[in-house]
Amino acid sequence: MSKPLEGIKIIDFTHVQAGPACTQLLAWFGADVIKVERPGSGDVTRNQLRDIPDADALYFTMLNSNKKSLTLDTKKPEGKEVLEKLIRESDVLVENFGPGALDRMGFSWERLNELNPKMIVASVKGFSDGHHYDDLKVYENVAQCAGGAASTTGFWDGPPTISAAALGDSNTGMHLAIGILTALIGRDKTGKGQKVAVSMQDSVLNLCRVKLRDQQRLERVGYLEEYPQYPHGEFSDVVPRGGNAGGGGQPGWVLKCKGWETDPNAYIYFTIQGHAWEPICKALGKPEWIDDPAYKTAEARQPHIFEIFGTIEGWLADKTKFEAVDILRKFDIPCAPVLTMKELANDPSLRASGTIVEVPHKKRGSYLTVGSPIKFSDMKPEVTASPLLGEHTDEVLAGLGYSRQDIFNLREIKAV
Ligand code: COA
Repeated sequence: MSKPLEGIKIIDFTHVQAGPACTQLLAWFGADVIKVERPGSGDVTRNQLRDIPDADALYFTMLNSNKKSLTLDTKKPEGKEVLEKLIRESDVLVENFGPGALDRMGFSWERLNELNPKMIVASVKGFSDGHHYDDLKVYENVAQCAGGAASTTGFWDGPPTISAAALGDSNTGMHLAIGILTALIGRDKTGKGQKVAVSMQDSVLNLCRVKLRDQQRLERVGYLEEYPQYPHGEFSDVVPRGGNAGGGGQPGWVLKCKGWETDPNAYIYFTIQGHAWEPICKALGKPEWIDDPAYKTAEARQPHIFEIFGTIEGWLADKTKFEAVDILRKFDIPCAPVLTMKELANDPSLRASGTIVEVPHKKRGSYLTVGSPIKFSDMKPEVTASPLLGEHTDEVLAGLGYSRQDIFNLREIKAV
């Protein structure tokens, strides 16, 4: 089956998570992604948190599937020459080096545009160009703090909290992928490449949009009625952390189910959305709440929302999280079990849909990874193993016209 991005050649000059997540996605959809890595060491994640000695770490394998690996010392003149050839025949270069690294290597945007005016140059940085922090190197949790996620995550009586979801890294990579695809469509119209830049701070803030909404509401009216602080607690002039309250205006909370005393994940998320109130009362065996003025509207419920959650927890006490959801789904009540990584890894539906896939690897045996979360009617993205360091060096160099002797010479001077 032909894939939509077949024929698009991408120089993947990325490392760690933000950039690799972007290029991996494009590789799943058919792009020819050539990961350029430093000879001898490669992407730092090959070695990070290794679980098998001498085999690439899962951190690397789970972010670099479907790619080729070319080792190249791009600080040596011979390495630069190879890179220049590759640039001349590629469609996209993606990088997420620290600020200024590509310029220092001699590959500024101007130079790249001169070498190949049709090429799209896509970058991830911690902060956007011209920002007063644009010289900073940035990792995931730094971005979560800079983008507003940390100040609004966690409980009001605890410190700012980091999310386990990679809001700074993979999320930024997904934004960059959208930027690259947009620039490719733009190029079809203009014939010209362009620079696409995404900052981690901006990408986190984009996902915290509703918290900026809340900041403005707070400044206007002085309180936020869907937050647990309302109506009994105090509001300052900044959006507070709301614990497990629903961010979209639907009151909800994480509630204990049978076994919570020993199982830290015996919980469900329960949403008391407006239209679901009547079915909730029926499911809980509380039909008298439906028309009771103290319960009938969201506004009336908010002052004693935790008492309501307490009643629901009483109902949940003899039900596992799965039994509870099986009952509630029949009433059309939005809810979900709090699923562990173990449960997700073994979920038959996720295996069947290709969201969790098992990939054979030359050195590791097979490993689990998250496949494409985007599903298409005409294409099923297939996940293949991440490359070993330099696995495709000869193949890529031969494709650029280098002879076996040239490749031998490049190896002798450790340029590849
Ligand atoms: N051959 C020769 N040199 C190479 C090379 C190659 N194939 N690939 C990289 N390098 C060099 C670069 O030229 C640079 O050298 P210089 O600093 O002397 O100019 C160096 O290796 C890499 O620098 P840098 O990207 O800054 O790495 P780092 O380990 O110091 O910092 C980050 C890592 C992630 C903090 C940093 O890259 C960063 O802030 N990136 C942007 C934001 C980002 O994506 N962060 C999230 C990562 S998940």
